Amino acid sequence: MAEKHKKPHAIVFAYPLQGHIVPVVHLALKLASHGFTITFINTHSIHNHTSKAHPKTGAELFAKARESGLDIRYTTISDGLPVEFDRSLNHDQFLAALLHVFSAHAEEVVAKIVASGEDVHCLIADTFFVWPSKIAKKFDLVHVSFWTEPALVFTLYYHWDLLRLNGHFDCQDCREDAIDYIPGVKAIEPKDTTSYLQETDTTSICHQIIYSCFIDTKNADFVLCNTVQELEHDTISALQAKIPYYAIGPIFPNDFSKTIVATSLWSESQCTKWLDKRPHASVLYVSFGSYAHVTKNDLVEIASGLSLSKVSFVLVLRPDVVSSDDADPLPVGFKEEVADRAIVIPWCTQREVLAHPAIGGFLTHCGWNSILESIWCEVPLLCFPLYTDQFTNRKLVVDDWKIGINLSNKKVISKEEVSDNINRLMCGESKDEFKNRIKEIKKTLESAVSPSGSSEKNMLQFIKDLEAKIEKIAHAKNSNCNGHV
Ligand code: UDX
Repeated sequence: MAEKHKKPHAIVFAYPLQGHIVPVVHLALKLASHGFTITFINTHSIHNHTSKAHPKTGAELFAKARESGLDIRYTTISDGLPVEFDRSLNHDQFLAALLHVFSAHAEEVVAKIVASGEDVHCLIADTFFVWPSKIAKKFDLVHVSFWTEPALVFTLYYHWDLLRLNGHFDCQDCREDAIDYIPGVKAIEPKDTTSYLQETDTTSICHQIIYSCFIDTKNADFVLCNTVQELEHDTISALQAKIPYYAIGPIFPNDFSKTIVATSLWSESQCTKWLDKRPHASVLYVSFGSYAHVTKNDLVEIASGLSLSKVSFVLVLRPDVVSSDDADPLPVGFKEEVADRAIVIPWCTQREVLAHPAIGGFLTHCGWNSILESIWCEVPLLCFPLYTDQFTNRKLVVDDWKIGINLSNKKVISKEEVSDNINRLMCGESKDEFKNRIKEIKKTLESAVSPSGSSEKNMLQFIKDLEAKIEKIAHAKNSNCNGHV
């Protein structure tokens, strides 16, 4: 039986995508700082990317964390594909491996850890995995599902069948009126649901994953969500009536802009010195995140709009932002044209850039981490959602919290609209309004992670509930053994 004073040992599986790795690494560090023993599992491919991007770190990504006294072990497993395989270019094949093959490798590593005689108690895995509750059950582990997006997105997927039943999803002519029957959600327009819930072909590999992972998650013992209770109060309360759900965000490193564990899949270009020379709040930071692709047409209009706006900017352009077989998607002459007021880099330390006083706005694809980081730095947002949860995240930012504006209100974006909206965000009359609103939301985040704040309290409550559950399992095991004697 788990001794009372002994903290749990958790095996943590990171979903092999950048936007999932950042929060789960910091969740692991947080739990370790609460005394947990953590075995952190990355895929070989993620490990390879990260250690290539940070050659000084060496092969042991968590070495510094261990030196600081945390009990974190680290191991890597295959996702089913060769390490050098281009997962961005062959996205569906990659996701098919995660859907069909990855669980065999996950089970193998859990079996090995358990067989080594380690006292392991729980399995913490990203909600998008389709197998955790089955593996947890097989090895008598408590299953903790980790959700890296807003609770609003979680509840939409959780109620996938209700959306279908009401004709808002997966039908010939889907309803276009507001969805007003999801518990805890006032009303949401179909255009503000996630990209997958708006698609007509609902048989894609992403749909198969979401469908299966939410069946699996309904069996989870606990769900941890990287959000703040006060920001999504009703949604979270309604979810709590169905499943033990804890808002524990925002999960950031202790020192916001620096981390003791490398999490970037690409090496970071420096732009701090360049920013140091710019006036306060004068620079727009532009990034489309780690995953989604921008069409060439949209990228050309955005680049032309940036050029037209006359605003200074840092443009992060991932090598695969259009496609990994289109190495130079910017318009000819663009870089030269804006050279006196802009820099274009492939990747940066985003938290450090957002925290720089010269940054005054963020043209973002609306990834959830980017939104939380921008709020923390009090940087208003210019929203250009591309894919997955980003449409729903945009609604929270623009319609509910009013801390940003849309990059475009039309189906086809134009450089004039891009330029107008950049100026509206950076220099328009409403600029101060956004700034004041975002200060308020920042306060909500700050107080949530303060010692008496909701996220801290929820984290402690989760640990207490988890320990009780572990004890219950151990007790049941003991009783079974005794029964057989
Ligand atoms: C996707 C989803 O849209 C997001 O909501 C989900 O939670 C994770 O997967 P992604 O494109 O990865 O998002 O964006 P985001 O959630 O913003 O995460 C990107 C992370 O990479 C952020 O933590 C950001 O700080 C970091 N980043 C981004 C960098 O460190 N450098 C960069 O140049 C760009």
